[in-house]
Amino acid sequence: MDTRLWISLLFCVCLGARVSRGESIEQRLRMHLLHEYDKSSLPAGNITSIVMRFTVRHVNMIPSEEVMELDAWVMMSWSDDRLKWSEITATHVPKLTFHIDQIWHPDIVLFNNANLDKMGDRPPSLLLAYPSGEILYIYPSRLRVPCVADLTNWPYDVHNCSAKYGSWVHDGNFIDLELHDDTPEVELDLVKSFQVERNLTRGQWKILATSLQKSTVFYHCCDEPYPHITLRMLIQRNAPVFVYTIQLPALALSLLTGVVFLLPPAALEKVVVGILCLVLDLQFLAYATATVPHSPSHTPLILKFISEQLILTAVTVILTAIVVRLAKDPHQDSLPHCVQRALAMFAACCCLGNYRRLASKSEMSPYPQGFKGEDLELGEDRDFIGRSYPNGNVPGTPSSGNNNTQGSSRRAPYDYLLLGAIIDRVLLVLYIIIIMSNMVTYGSVIFW
Ligand SMILES: *[C@@H]1O[C@H](CO)[C@@H](O)[C@H](O)[C@H]1NC(C)=O
Ligand SMILES: *[C@@H]1O[C@H](CO)[C@@H](O)[C@H](O)[C@H]1NC(C)=O
Ligand SMILES: *[C@@H]1O[C@H](CO)[C@@H](O)[C@H](O)[C@H]1NC(C)=O
Repeated sequence: MDTRLWISLLFCVCLGARVSRGESIEQRLRMHLLHEYDKSSLPAGNITSIVMRFTVRHVNMIPSEEVMELDAWVMMSWSDDRLKWSEITATHVPKLTFHIDQIWHPDIVLFNNANLDKMGDRPPSLLLAYPSGEILYIYPSRLRVPCVADLTNWPYDVHNCSAKYGSWVHDGNFIDLELHDDTPEVELDLVKSFQVERNLTRGQWKILATSLQKSTVFYHCCDEPYPHITLRMLIQRNAPVFVYTIQLPALALSLLTGVVFLLPPAALEKVVVGILCLVLDLQFLAYATATVPHSPSHTPLILKFISEQLILTAVTVILTAIVVRLAKDPHQDSLPHCVQRALAMFAACCCLGNYRRLASKSEMSPYPQGFKGEDLELGEDRDFIGRSYPNGNVPGTPSSGNNNTQGSSRRAPYDYLLLGAIIDRVLLVLYIIIIMSNMVTYGSVIFW
């Protein structure tokens, strides 16, 4: 008679004998199956196929470590004929559980594990066995895989990360890997928000695409193929808050510096505003550097933008100091006539009619009409006027000096004022052009 049948018969007899002693069928079946079971040898002499499935529960990326963290349920199933009981017991036992140490299980590990010290480390789990010899092993795992983080486009950075699974020692002739699906299941914790039409999620990352792929690798050492399963994730940062904390402030700061060129050419406040902008830019750069992760191989564009803004502001302050100096300094000689004419023409183009009028009025009449009104507009002060006229005469007051030289020296500050105003206007246009071109260059990370 067939040995198998003998065993079955024996088992049934034992079953009958032991039920009376209060042992459950399940317990006796398990004891029977594990009798002389060698958990080190593979279930079949030939290839054992492991079917793998993944369910992704949560994704996180740690850019500072360039590591992707993935909470997933890993499912493996294979068949072990030694644990088949569909033929040997009359009583229906739908499934049995075994502790992972009790039976053979594949040495599938995460190859690109960022925690090398915990390679293959799994929480103690139970395996499920079915009457046909099918074994199902599901375990929750937090995978940490290295993933080169390209942060150039922060906060719109997309990362392509992969986790590679395979048997550590068995080649494809003994353990083969198969995929249940082409893609992992994705079951993120979504909470329906009742206030807004939106799903609330945990974490800062949005999954754009996932895929599972089987590949076979041949290593230098051996001729045998080594099958691997690669889980790929394409994830994108999902942090709209940075629009409000980084992008909008960066934009606002770059516009703020332009104010310097809008102030009157002789106003000392221009320099103060410029330096204030410089301090703000510096502060903001420090804040952004702390907030935006960066790596040696990729500098985030937004940091470049803020840094360029800082340099632009510094240059602005220097140029502004020169313009203020030009407009405020006491000048003895007025500009040559050809320059004056050019300035007048230029002023008309730059909508600086008021300055031009002032300069030409001072040329024609000794007393500039409406001087007081334009005084404020020009950002001048009494001190300036006093200093501009070495003999202490306020312009316009009929004085005893030589009328000709008086007129020339009186005209001088207005010429320079006009020159300062024109330079300011040109710088403003230049500044706007630079800002525009910066926005085009960095638009992909500044706007949303
Ligand atoms: C077992 O392996 C041999 C060669 O190693 C092969 O010819 C045979 O088809 C395999 N059997 C199964 C069931 O895979
Ligand atoms: C991710 O990277 C792999 C190779 O490393 C490439 O084959 C795949 O196309 C990439 N996926 C995307 C969406 O770029
Ligand atoms: C919220 O999630 C559900 C699935 O859980 C989905 O069907 C629905 O379209 C989502 N709503 C929004 C606004 O994304």
